[in-house]
Amino acid sequence: MNPTEMYELLRQLTTPVVAITSRRGDKRNGMIVDGAIRASIVPDIPRVAVFIHKFNFSHDLIFETGCFAVHILHRDQLDLVWKLGFVSGREKDKLADVPHRLGPFGCPLLSDCYAFFECRVINAMDTGSSTFFLGEAGEVGRGPGRELLTPAHLRDNVPAEWRAPYLKNLAAAQATARERSRDIRALVWRGLASPGR
Ligand SMILES: Cc1cc2nc3c(=O)[nH]c(=O)nc-3n(C[C@H](O)[C@H](O)[C@H](O)COP(=O)(O)O)c2cc1C
Repeated sequence: MNPTEMYELLRQLTTPVVAITSRRGDKRNGMIVDGAIRASIVPDIPRVAVFIHKFNFSHDLIFETGCFAVHILHRDQLDLVWKLGFVSGREKDKLADVPHRLGPFGCPLLSDCYAFFECRVINAMDTGSSTFFLGEAGEVGRGPGRELLTPAHLRDNVPAEWRAPYLKNLAAAQATARERSRDIRALVWRGLASPGR
């Protein structure tokens, strides 16, 4: 991918809704997060950072494997938000009917997206309720999507029947996060001493 195109992709990470995938052995998983952070201005060192709450199954997979893939979603992917963002991978295989392939780092790469960054975790910070993962992208690519799914677009177009489960999940997540937010531990990411492992 050329530097200009890479930089444009990184710029898009300021607000969009993203799907984050991970894999540990035969467990493939995906979740929805409404934001990822461009963590590099250098096109040949593409870095992306995400906050993942510890109570999500995805957190365990990313923490244990040191890999995740961020997919910027497009506007026709509301059904994917429903599939990945409302139930945990502890309860079902959410990617069973979502077309994907495994990337070089072993993460599921979704065929349908705006763009994806498959990342290796190069540092991490504990926030108490979540972990902030700094990832360096290896495989980066474009999907067929052309219009970003922003949180504002999602809010304006969300089906009415999603509202109750969304608010219930949010309230439960906030309660758990509130309990754990103050308990911040020092974290030395294991990959720091040997990047490129
Ligand atoms: C629009 C939307 C935005 C979300 N944003 C976040 C977020 O920023 N952080 C987070 O930890 N979970 C977020 N979630 C919730 C997770 O996607 C959800 O808890 C998911 O079921 C976790 O799956 P897992 O347990 O398989 O990892 C969001 C869900 C939706 C629908």
